[in-house]
Amino acid sequence: MSFDVQKIRLDFPILQRKVNGYPLVYFDNAATSQKPQIVIDSIVDYYSNYNSNIHRGVHALSQEATDVYELARKKIQHHFNAKHSHEIIFTSGTTHGINIVASGYSKLLKKGDEIIVSAMEHHSNIVPWQMLCEETGAVLKVIPMNEEGVLIMSEYDNLLSSKTKLVFVNHVSNALGTINPIKEIIEKAHQYDAKVLVDGAQACSHISSNFQDLDVDFYVASAHKMCGPTGVGFLYGKSDLLNDLPPYQGGGEMIKEVTFKKTTYADLPHKFEAGTPNISGGIAFGVALDYLNAIGIDAINSFENELLDYATQKLLEIEGLKIYGTGKNKTAVISFNIDGIHPYDIGTIVDKLGIAVRTGHHCAQPIMEFFKIPGTVRASFAFYNTKTEIDNFIEAIKKAKMMLS
Ligand code: ALA
Repeated sequence: MSFDVQKIRLDFPILQRKVNGYPLVYFDNAATSQKPQIVIDSIVDYYSNYNSNIHRGVHALSQEATDVYELARKKIQHHFNAKHSHEIIFTSGTTHGINIVASGYSKLLKKGDEIIVSAMEHHSNIVPWQMLCEETGAVLKVIPMNEEGVLIMSEYDNLLSSKTKLVFVNHVSNALGTINPIKEIIEKAHQYDAKVLVDGAQACSHISSNFQDLDVDFYVASAHKMCGPTGVGFLYGKSDLLNDLPPYQGGGEMIKEVTFKKTTYADLPHKFEAGTPNISGGIAFGVALDYLNAIGIDAINSFENELLDYATQKLLEIEGLKIYGTGKNKTAVISFNIDGIHPYDIGTIVDKLGIAVRTGHHCAQPIMEFFKIPGTVRASFAFYNTKTEIDNFIEAIKKAKMMLS
């Protein structure tokens, strides 16, 4: 069955609107994806029909909300093939998930332990580990990348040792689109008994991930990049590792028993879920996963690869244009610059023509430093984008180039 992008587009109300008098062309999907009506409706349905707090009431509304929220947890578990639903911790997003793990390890690491990150991390997967190193005296090491924006795995081999305790790497680079060989990274880390956290923020709606098959220790992602709402995401961790981590926040719902002498903590997942969560967000996340699964991640991936190949070829026909992130294994993200033109100026001109791209350092300054550039223009595609939109984008880029040269 062919991929019916026009039918899919009808599911997304925002794609019908105009921006600056032009039909919206939304190529900023790596920043956040658009939401199908069914996800938007699920939020309205929760607040209209069964709004109440979860895990706390015997009354019907609370039970109903708890059931639907916990069903969403199970949907995440099944989608990623986690062994247990209690290994899925609801968070406010990827950054929150990373900070839960970083904060926990501040009690478990000691001076001289080593942490490895990659050269192509988002700031959210650099700064918490630097803070952790400052607090514990652990040392941060970096896996370098080559000019294609691909990690140099032989250097990773050299960094690993019995001192390595943790490895942090993104599944897909937000600024380059590179898909990292996480299975290999995990296997190698495990030979030294180091634990691996994978930042899956840019991967989950584009490629499939199977946590048990990967044998990954921790995996974090955000709903809003997967057609779900902002302000919700998850941390996956193997049960024994999550049990060993101290809680991140104290408060209601994360306790077993509280006295003024001592508090004991709740079992997973509640130990890490203090306070009232984003209930409608969690529920809508589950609906977004159902929506993506009905289309199929593999079908999405192959359609987006077509868009990537088409756009790459067209962009490279523009004289003076250079793409950053040219590895073979990448998702539909294209970061580029045109000789002598600031990325911000290109972004501003194409916006006037209704086209949304991100410009700047994309919260990945070390990547920009590596390429010695201030930033890039980043076009990131989703399965509801079309080749016609890419044609419009190419024309807009040519116009911008003419105006700014
Ligand atoms: N991390 C998001 C991006 O890459 C916001 O744009």
